[in-house]
Amino acid sequence: MFRNFKLVPRVIFGRGCFSQLDEILSPQRTTLKDWVVFVTDDVFTGTALASRIPLHDNDLLLYVNVDDEPKTQYVDQLTQQVKTARPTLPCAVVGMGGGATMDLAKAISLMLTNPGSSTEYQGWDLIKHPAVYHAAVPTLSGTGAEVSRTTVLTGPEKKLGLNSDYTVFDQVVLDPELTAGVPKDQYFYTGMDCYIHCIESLAGTYLNEFSKAYGEKSLDLCRQVFLENHPDAADKLMMASFFGGMSIAYSQVGACHALSYGLSFLLGIHHGVGCCIAFDALEEYYPDGVKEFRVMMEKTGVDIPRQVTKDLDDAQMNTMIDVALGLAPLWENCLGKDWQTIMTRDKARSLFLKM
Ligand SMILES: NC(=O)c1ccc[n+]([C@@H]2O[C@H](COP(=O)([O-])OP(=O)(O)OC[C@H]3O[C@@H](n4cnc5c(N)ncnc54)[C@H](O)[C@@H]3O)[C@@H](O)[C@H]2O)c1
Ligand SMILES: [Fe+2]
Repeated sequence: MFRNFKLVPRVIFGRGCFSQLDEILSPQRTTLKDWVVFVTDDVFTGTALASRIPLHDNDLLLYVNVDDEPKTQYVDQLTQQVKTARPTLPCAVVGMGGGATMDLAKAISLMLTNPGSSTEYQGWDLIKHPAVYHAAVPTLSGTGAEVSRTTVLTGPEKKLGLNSDYTVFDQVVLDPELTAGVPKDQYFYTGMDCYIHCIESLAGTYLNEFSKAYGEKSLDLCRQVFLENHPDAADKLMMASFFGGMSIAYSQVGACHALSYGLSFLLGIHHGVGCCIAFDALEEYYPDGVKEFRVMMEKTGVDIPRQVTKDLDDAQMNTMIDVALGLAPLWENCLGKDWQTIMTRDKARSLFLKM
């Protein structure tokens, strides 16, 4: 069985292309009553970027906070806020920010047309109705959330995405100028999320020419960004993120992502930095990638938190192992069909203890 892969239908790329957002959205505004919600990372409150958002009289500027990774409860609350703001549904939802904000925008656009709580849709293809038109304006590069068919949410019982064809954005606006203000450590962590997507995809047993084509180009761009000096590094990383997302969409991530989900679920460690912490412990599985990652880390002058698991008790460690080993496709991609005989609970524990 081959996956019939849903792609983002429209993409605009280039420095300053954010200025075209109003024109891009205008076909959605068919009557005077039509209105747009701009789901915007609250880091932009009062900034020059916020003043450039093409707000019409009836539109809603909805600031969101991503200090914690998106939770189902927060999605439900924001959806309710949008529903009660005006008597009609919005004609478009625009997400402006990093992976977390883009995920919130995707989730809101889905939950506006699907009844109940977002927890009911955590899984694969559980969404029944098409979402409200939704567009992404990434301000941080690396996650690939701008191209993926999921929105990663932490619910009361599980951390699992709303995976569906309806989740995919209708439009992506790639303006590398918007990433200019990202703090250096965050730029590195999220950039490494992309680098690791490529390493895991290219080393995986699920690899095919489709994923390889995107993964190799993305990896090449990551190397240019983090090992060389280029004035247009932000442009390169934005395209690396897009291509890295395309690569894993048709293959899978691997051991690093599986273990990082454990760190994130139990310790609340954010995705990018969690991937860096896990990857640094995986020399045995990705020897060249981990070596190169360390060179990139040194060149960027960023470090990662160490000994994050040292105070965990047995029960907590077991929860973390359960979460990580629950992600069977990731392990199968990394280690093959016999992965369970290789990645035993003891082995997973020993890896976590190195972090
Ligand atoms: N849907 C997917 O396919 C997918 C894939 C990978 C990760 N994710 C999700 O993405 C999230 C991680 O995303 P991320 O790494 O992009 O980080 P993020 O969205 O969590 O943002 C990290 C920090 O950077 C700040 N920031 C963003 N843009 C900025 C800018 N231009 N200037 C200054 N600060 C800025 C944010 O305010 C935040 O404090 C996680 O929640 C993860 O689960 C989703
Ligand atoms: Fe990732």
